[in-house]
Amino acid sequence: MSKLALAAVAALGIAGVAMAQGMPKPTTLVDRPNATDGEKLYVEHCAMCHGPNGMGTGLLGRRVQPALLEQRSGLAAQYVIMAARRGIGNMPPITRGEVSDADLKQIADYLAAGPHGAAK
Ligand code: HEC
Repeated sequence: MSKLALAAVAALGIAGVAMAQGMPKPTTLVDRPNATDGEKLYVEHCAMCHGPNGMGTGLLGRRVQPALLEQRSGLAAQYVIMAARRGIGNMPPITRGEVSDADLKQIADYLAAGPHGAAK
């Protein structure tokens, strides 16, 4: 085997170990077959940053607990909508092109109804 091939095999081995050690999985709807509409929209548009491993969760954890939006209680729907439309801190504004007013309202109502179950 050439040196290059050996290096490639070694690199794959390292990646395999990282995966076996349980890097947190991204949040997807596969794990949530019974998701409501607001929850689905949240997973689709927000969970990449606000899931257990997301940068939104990481940054929020510096100033608020629980850091996961889905586990918060008393998060006001109006506050969620305002934060999403204007952007807040390191979160970029979410435009109407990305998420319509009707969809954002469903997401906000879902979060306002929290706390929701365990992180996934
Ligand atoms: C690109 C990543 C990203 C996406 C996508 C994202 N957020 Fe955020 N969000 C952040 C970050 C980062 C913060 C923390 C801002 C800070 O404090 O610096 C945050 C903060 C928030 C806060 C403030 C919470 C508090 O306690 O002050 C709300 C509410 C929020 N996001 C809602 C949403 C909603 C709803 C969506 C989906 C429509 C969404 N975010 C999508 C990155 C994201």
